[in-house]
This record gives sequence, C-alpha cells and structure tokens, in this order.
Amino acid sequence: MKSLQPTPTPIVQINTLTKIFRDFWHRPKARAVNNLSLNIYPGEIFGLLGPNGSGKSTTIKILLGLLHPSSGTVTVLGSKPQNVITKNEIGYLPEESHLYKHLTARESLDFYGKLFDINKEERRKRTDELLDMVGLTHAADRMIGEFSKGMARRIGLAQALINDPKLIILDEPTSGLDPIGCRQVKDLIIALAKRGKTILLSSHLLADVEDVCDQVTILFNGSIRASGSVTQLLEKRDSIRLTIPTLSPEKLKEVLNVIRKKIGSEPEIDHPSLNLEQFFLQVVAKANETEAENMSGAASDTKVAAFLKTENQQPKINN
Ligand SMILES: Nc1ncnc2c1ncn2[C@@H]1O[C@H](COP(=O)(O)OP(=O)(O)OP(=O)(O)O)[C@@H](O)[C@H]1O
Ligand SMILES: [Mg+2]
Repeated sequence: MKSLQPTPTPIVQINTLTKIFRDFWHRPKARAVNNLSLNIYPGEIFGLLGPNGSGKSTTIKILLGLLHPSSGTVTVLGSKPQNVITKNEIGYLPEESHLYKHLTARESLDFYGKLFDINKEERRKRTDELLDMVGLTHAADRMIGEFSKGMARRIGLAQALINDPKLIILDEPTSGLDPIGCRQVKDLIIALAKRGKTILLSSHLLADVEDVCDQVTILFNGSIRASGSVTQLLEKRDSIRLTIPTLSPEKLKEVLNVIRKKIGSEPEIDHPSLNLEQFFLQVVAKANETEAENMSGAASDTKVAAFLKTENQQPKINN
C-alpha cells in the first residue's frame, strides 16, 4: 500500500482577501486587493509579482497586521496577524527602509535587537554576524545617513533578521542594489530557505523572482492572474532542447538529416547563451582578480549568520 505524505500546514493562509481603501466619507477609493487566496508552505520561497499598484505591498501590510482586511481571512503562523507572539516570528524588510540616519549600522541593529528584548550579549553576537553576512563589517561604525542606497538596503535586510524569524517578508529586496549586490541578496535568500526559513518576496524584477522563487503568483489590479511553480509556469512542454558540443559542418548535416527524417520537420539550432547577469558577474569577477581594491567591500560568498536557527523542515508541496 502506498503511504500517504502528510500535507504540511501552511505558514501563511490567505482566503478570499479583499482590501478596499476608502476616503474620508467612506466612499471606496481603490480596490487594492480583490478576492485573493493563496497558501505559503514552510521552507518555500514565494514570489509575489505584479506591476506598480497591483496590490503587493497592501497584501504584505495585511500579513503584518499593519492594515485590516475589508473582507476575507488571513492566518500567519497559525494566528491572526495582529498576534504579538506571531510578530516576533516575522522579519520584515519594507519597500522603503525607515532607518535612523543618525545611528551607526551597529547601533541601528542593536536598537532593533532591543525592541525584540534580546539580551546585550546576544545582541552583540547577532549584530556582528549580521554585519558580516551582509558585507558591511567595514562600515559598522559609520552613520546610516551616509550610506549608499545599496548599503542601506543591506542593513535593512540585516535588521529584518535580527529576531531570527521563521517567516521573512521582503518587499522589493533588491531595489537599489547593483548586479553584484542583487546576486548576493538572491544567494542569501536561497541559503535562508535551505535553513528552512519561509520567505515571501515581492518584486517587479522578473529575473530576480525567476532565479530564486519556488512558487510565483502574478497579481494585476489586486487579483491573481497566474500562479504555480516557476518551472510549471515557464516550461514549454511541447518541445525539448538538446545541448551537445559544437559539431563540424559535415557531422551537423548528418545529424540534422536523421532528425528531419525522424520528426518530419526542420529543427531549430542555436548556441546556448549566458544571460546578461551571468555575463556581467563574469566580467566583474575577472576585473576583480586584477583590481581587488576596486570592490565596494561587499563579500562575495554567501555566509549565513550562525545564530539564524535551522527550522524543522516539513516536506514541501510540489505541484
Ligand atoms: N493608504 C492607501 N490609501 C489609498 N490607496 C492606497 C493606499 N495604499 C495603497 N493604495 C492603492 O492600492 C493599490 C495597490 O497599491 P500597492 O502599494 O499595494 O501596490 P504595489 O503592487 O505594492 O505597487 P508598487 O510596485 O508600486 O510598490 C494602488 O492603487 C494604490 O494607489
Ligand atoms: Mg509596493
């Protein structure tokens, strides 16, 4: 008899959620989210995609208990989003980080650690590990007001992890980062998911989502227009691609003749190419070998802060 796999409990459950913003006279102004239902499972990287104004940030703010739904239900880690204990288990990187410009990077992380009642010794340890993780140890004692956009995004990300959250919600995590910074943040997201953290990220940068997400939902005007696993959504199931070493013209002719005979039509041939991100990173890595000094000081390997706990992984749902 086949054993039945237990269905994991979703970390986030959204059921027929609608959010209507109203004006002073209570007249509907914008239907930001419209009848949205989705589940996010443990250990999953879930991408919320959509053009400007499609309802991504509104959905996130409802999950964080910052906005109330007009109708529908939302459960985060088994409770209502307003539950204080639930909030302790969530890390949040807002669309625009609101960091105190007059604090140094270290003071800022320490401040957020205090908000979560983390003791002094542990705060110090976490701050050091996080600064190292986001490649900002060298700027630890500089004021955040002096930071570039990319540096501010990194410190925002570190701040979102100070409480060792189970669920990490990242609104446009790569905005303002250069391609190297983007790649690092993406690798970090993947590394966090490997530790069993659940990640919800919103973006309109399609390549970012495609690179890291297991599941994707595309919103338009507050409603879901497509959703599923990235492979499921993007794979062209009616054709296959065969990659072989480059052949001599005579050999290629022979192979093509056989294929034509077998399938009765003309196959398409081209050279596989890198995408621009891969090419850019190769060029920069090469330049960096000769000019090591020129790098922004950002670390190139993905190291995850040691204090971030490995969550008990439940099996993911593959559909
Ligand atoms: N506080 C608010 N009051 C009124 N309308 C709002 C409010 N917040 C958002 N909206 C409206 O709700 C809709 C969805 O906005 P939301 O910020 O969720 O979009 P988004 O997908 O995050 O867009 P972006 O990619 O630009 O960040 C928009 O029409 C927006 O104008
Ligand atoms: Mg937004």
